[in-house]
Amino acid sequence: MSSAGVVPLLGRVATAVSEAIARVRPETADADPVVRRSDRADYQSNAALPLAKRVGMPPAQLGADIASGIDRTDGVIADVQVSGPGFLNINLSDSAVWTAVAERGADERLGIPTTEDGRRVVIDYSAPNVAKEMHVGHLRTTIIGDSLARVFGFLGADVIRANHLGDWGTQFGMLIQYIDEHPESPWHTDELDDETSSVSALDSLYKAARAQFDADSGFADRARNRVVALQAGDPDTVARWREIVAESEKAFGAIYDRLGVLLTPDDYAGESFYNDQLADTVTELVDKGVAVDSEGAIVVLSEQVNGPDDKPAVLMARKRDGGYGYDSTDLATIRYRIATLHADRLLYVTDSRQSLHFQLIFEAARRVGWLTDAIQVDHVAYGTILGPDGKPFKTRAGGTVRLMDLLDEAVARVRAVVAEKNPDLSPAELDTIAEQAGIGAVKYADLSTSRVKDYTFDAVRMTSLNGNTGVYLQYAHARVCSILRKAGGGVQPTVDIGVPMEPAERELVLALDGYGSVLDEVAETLEPHRLAGYLYDLARAYTAFYDSCPVLTADEPIRSNRIALCRLTARTLGLGLGQLGIAAPQRM
Ligand code: ARG
Repeated sequence: MSSAGVVPLLGRVATAVSEAIARVRPETADADPVVRRSDRADYQSNAALPLAKRVGMPPAQLGADIASGIDRTDGVIADVQVSGPGFLNINLSDSAVWTAVAERGADERLGIPTTEDGRRVVIDYSAPNVAKEMHVGHLRTTIIGDSLARVFGFLGADVIRANHLGDWGTQFGMLIQYIDEHPESPWHTDELDDETSSVSALDSLYKAARAQFDADSGFADRARNRVVALQAGDPDTVARWREIVAESEKAFGAIYDRLGVLLTPDDYAGESFYNDQLADTVTELVDKGVAVDSEGAIVVLSEQVNGPDDKPAVLMARKRDGGYGYDSTDLATIRYRIATLHADRLLYVTDSRQSLHFQLIFEAARRVGWLTDAIQVDHVAYGTILGPDGKPFKTRAGGTVRLMDLLDEAVARVRAVVAEKNPDLSPAELDTIAEQAGIGAVKYADLSTSRVKDYTFDAVRMTSLNGNTGVYLQYAHARVCSILRKAGGGVQPTVDIGVPMEPAERELVLALDGYGSVLDEVAETLEPHRLAGYLYDLARAYTAFYDSCPVLTADEPIRSNRIALCRLTARTLGLGLGQLGIAAPQRM
């Protein structure tokens, strides 16, 4: 359902300044009003400085003209002061600020408009590889992609979650051949009782198969024949492949459930899904002159990027032996997402090491005409998770860190922190909260870091009660909920807009009022850390408010106004945590 929302206060100020500019200097009516929050007033406009240059007038003079041109008849703007070289310091009336609390509080979307209404956004994320364990790298894409899916969904976009599983390729011939030649392997026995153990087993079998492939040319030949059999649809081979995929999907599903992400089996569209589109895709690329023959292989040579050898970077559309690989599949995938899914926007959430790959895919898609200027496409790149030694995160033995182990560690730590803080929780409550807070801590640590940066996985720091952590925010939310419980429930009290406003109340409302624009910024920049930072600032504005403005003991109508403010804060924090994919328990 689309919603126009409540116009943010900042937006109203910006409009008032724009209108004043148009009145005072009609020839510059297009100018940016340059309005932002300020320490010296509610808002500041710096519009006069660049404009003064444009019209050849002293900025202080122009600032004064704009100031007197600002319409105050609706009572929203209370006063405007010109300061320094021509800045405008703009203060709102208390009643306008309280009205924002009432209006947002009365709206089920907190007054946030559906700015992405009707846009179809395909988000490619998670995409672990079949027969391998999900590792910490897949944690990042899963968490970041999920948060983006939630933000876009809330903003009204029609989100298609695309889990591009690595479920196809020559490695499966090798693995299937190995399994068949080793009847004693755990794959054939009943040892595989739960989902995770079967994928660990596959992971080891895969490594063993790879070792034999490299060492034994007879096996390598049999494995190659198996690839041919798989691609030709040989029933036994395909049946075994399906078994392997199904086991892996179960294990991925267990992790998704635990992480509480939106991905479901309906979102699986792995590499194999595009198999029967590969030949056509390559034909089209060749027919349109984008792909060319190179010693029997079919390649797309970049017109924009050179490889390390200073020759054009290459996408392998079809290998010399006629086989298709990762590049071929991504070419078919982008074509499908545009031509069949009619995406308006495409996001690919992967490690920044794949930047060149996607740059080449986008370039090829543009040259062949699939990708037009009407479609927005982004590689949502992210950095590496580092271990305590500052190197990519590995187990002590040098292996990949299993995701489940990592989550267990965070949950165990948080359990101790929560139990100490609140000894009255029942064991069952403690379990639930520890799980929510532990998973939340891992997600928040990831999402609060600028995504292109590497960060160190530090279970102690991420589960701390103090500082910019998920646990801190969950506590802040639970504290507000506890006040609301004491105040007698969740209904929105009537806000009396005639009550004079305290500075800490004002700071809090102006912060709450900026939520929608932060979501728009996340959709624009694809950077969830902006939302995380916003929520942290909001929690701190709430703390400052709470420290200086008693709620439950205040006299009416102040009490009701403050309860309305608490309620709006709780809902905003809860919604925001939810959009990071983090639970917001009412009690902790
Ligand atoms: N399976 C790949 C990996 O683990 C990621 C796939 C990302 N999506 C894509 N369309 N290439 O690195």
